[in-house]
Amino acid sequence: MKYKISIIGAGSWGTAQSRILADNGHDVLLFDVDADTVFEINTNHTNISKLGDVKIPASVLATTSIEEAVNYADIIILVVPTAVMRKCLISISKVIQSTKLFVNASKGIEPNTFKRVSEIVYEEIENKYVRGFVALTGPSHAEEVILKLPTFICAASECLENAKIIQSIYSNNTYFRVYTLLDLIGAELGGSLKNIIAIASGMLAGLGYGDNIRAALITRGLTEMIKISVELGAKKETLYGLSGLGDLIVTTMSEHSRNFQAGKKIAQGKDLKQSLKEMTMVVEGARSAMAAYQLVKEKNIDAPIIEAVYDILYNYKDPQTAMSDLMNRKLKSE
Ligand SMILES: NC(=O)c1ccc[n+]([C@@H]2O[C@H](COP(=O)([O-])OP(=O)(O)OC[C@H]3O[C@@H](n4cnc5c(N)ncnc54)[C@H](O)[C@@H]3O)[C@@H](O)[C@H]2O)c1
Repeated sequence: MKYKISIIGAGSWGTAQSRILADNGHDVLLFDVDADTVFEINTNHTNISKLGDVKIPASVLATTSIEEAVNYADIIILVVPTAVMRKCLISISKVIQSTKLFVNASKGIEPNTFKRVSEIVYEEIENKYVRGFVALTGPSHAEEVILKLPTFICAASECLENAKIIQSIYSNNTYFRVYTLLDLIGAELGGSLKNIIAIASGMLAGLGYGDNIRAALITRGLTEMIKISVELGAKKETLYGLSGLGDLIVTTMSEHSRNFQAGKKIAQGKDLKQSLKEMTMVVEGARSAMAAYQLVKEKNIDAPIIEAVYDILYNYKDPQTAMSDLMNRKLKSE
């Protein structure tokens, strides 16, 4: 079945997704607040600042009108940085006129409220307009997807029928494969928390360390992700899947990851503000680190890696000292 789909946020990930959906035969409209990006997509079929000179299908159109984007679609895909997600949903709530299936492909938790994007959607959009919610998450660098390199991710929802719709519209038999998943909480938290561990991984690279400690970071970081996610209602097994461990591996191991790059710059002597300024794309892990730190303090969860990242980002702790403190923690069993 052919769908009309609006993607809210024409950054790297939104633009890469427009290619998959257009390749799969759907009608796609991208929305962005940045008029230059919209003009470039409509005239040159590129998004050079985010994805280089790779062409996206000419059938993909873009708009700066949120009203046009919302009323065009059966399915709304949210791909804006989570810091503007609530604001963006409020603007959608003012123009929406019929029921839509909402999909979120952004990754982050809201500081202070600890809300996941699904919760923010149900808070901001009148429920009669929300047919359902699906989180699209897993190991997926936009830079590879736009080149049609093979990618496997998850469509997570509390409603299997909705997850299956998203699975079928995104999957193709050449480069994109989607699995359904019924643990929405686990999928949303896995995708958000792994970005904090990716910052730590970049810090270790910036300090000049090797593969041994990176492997230890991935396994001990996963343990912290599991503790927090299970406390908030996730299933432990979900964190071992594509939306947890899969995404954790890709983001801690790759220079494509903005979170990794930000961590590396910080370990090399830049502060958070300075390194964020140098990034042209969003670094979600910094905001998620704030939320996760507040949460582990409130729930009394032992999460030394997340606490160390928070201290380096927000209390200007020296990364080398943080590493030394982690090494000197009381010895214990795994
Ligand atoms: N880039 C990836 O490979 C990738 C993969 C998976 C998930 N994600 C997640 O997707 C989200 C977006 O990441 P990205 O890499 O595309 O970011 P990006 O920085 O490349 O793009 C963000 C886009 O959002 C737009 N924007 C900002 N405020 C807006 C608003 N109020 N309304 C509409 N558009 C607005 C910006 O103009 C920009 O075009 C993040 O949560 C990220 O973690 C990214």
